[in-house]
Amino acid sequence: MIVPVLLAGGAGNRLWPMSRELFPKQCLNLTDANASLIQKTLMRVEACGIDARPIIVCNNDHRFLIAQQVSEMGKLCDILLEPAARNTAPAIALAAAFAAKQYPGATVLALPADHLIDNVDAFSAAIDKGLASAKEGKIVTFGVVPQYPETGYGYIEAQSFGDVSDIRAFHEKPDRATAEGYMAAGNYYWNSGMFLFDSGALLQEVEHYEPEIYRCISKSLDNKYVDLDFVRAEEESFKRSPSLSIDVAVMERTKRGVVVPYDGDWSDIGSWDSVLDALPKDKAGNAALGDVIVEDTKDSLIYSTSRLVSTLGVNNLAIIDTQDALLVMDINKGQGVKEIVSQIKQSG
Ligand code: GDD
Ligand code: MG
Repeated sequence: MIVPVLLAGGAGNRLWPMSRELFPKQCLNLTDANASLIQKTLMRVEACGIDARPIIVCNNDHRFLIAQQVSEMGKLCDILLEPAARNTAPAIALAAAFAAKQYPGATVLALPADHLIDNVDAFSAAIDKGLASAKEGKIVTFGVVPQYPETGYGYIEAQSFGDVSDIRAFHEKPDRATAEGYMAAGNYYWNSGMFLFDSGALLQEVEHYEPEIYRCISKSLDNKYVDLDFVRAEEESFKRSPSLSIDVAVMERTKRGVVVPYDGDWSDIGSWDSVLDALPKDKAGNAALGDVIVEDTKDSLIYSTSRLVSTLGVNNLAIIDTQDALLVMDINKGQGVKEIVSQIKQSG
């Protein structure tokens, strides 16, 4: 049995002004008018034939929005609520501990809720390749065969080139020249942030390398409070947990890590250029959504939620127009949007 765990705690600051504190990116219909990123993740899990009840780990503030999106799909999920964001290690440990109690011996598939994958068959085949290793107590990561030297992803360096390989090292978001070297070497993969593991094996590694995270998470789950459809982790213990990513807390240190190459389509919808990449485009490379007129414009994303927006004689722009905020930016400067968000937060 494979239990899917969806990591849905991120805010998505780089997708402002669509993404807001109370309406995070995983709940937005960014690339598909009919489904949000989290709904598309649930559909992908189902299309892979994984039919166990999914576990969603998210921030307490997003609980009703996420519950509504789940129920729109006619699905039943366990929604684990984090009282505060403590990064992915506590979130995954919490879900693993919950899964270990509910379904002893089950294998967990942990998936970020902000990814797009269209080729479900290739994804499903990668899961099948990793399953035996996960059952043996390995922590399986999926390494995406890189298509270009992306600097916005971390990389996994494999020991060898097989279907399942030991991991030599993790390298978080490299500069361009380093990424080009990784592409040339051939044994480097994009770190997809997706994992397959036995819940007990993952918890042993968390306990070994980050005993404080293990203690805090175990206690917060022991003292949980079940409220309607939500499972609330107890606040005081959870907040005491160190805030670390699963990569730093476990994957960069464990001897149980292996990587399974995934050679299909995959993208992390993190900034506006990744949204443009994921959408169908006209001959000039533009994607337009909403009430938009585009003339003599190239390689741009124009998104209007209400009024008419038109462009003339411009290239490489993202124009995102919402009821109360307008963003006009160079489509290649997407990483800087979080600076705007931090200024908005400072000005209160
Ligand atoms: N529940 C929960 N709680 N989820 C979280 C939290 C948290 O505190 N923090 C992050 N997440 C979720 C996000 O919602 C997202 O789905 C996923 O974990 C990864 O977090 P990001 O903030 O999107 O990380 P990133 O994209 O910058 O980088 C990571 O993922 C890349 C691939 O998607 C790294 O692991 C990179 O190495 C990797 O390439
Ligand atoms: Mg991401």
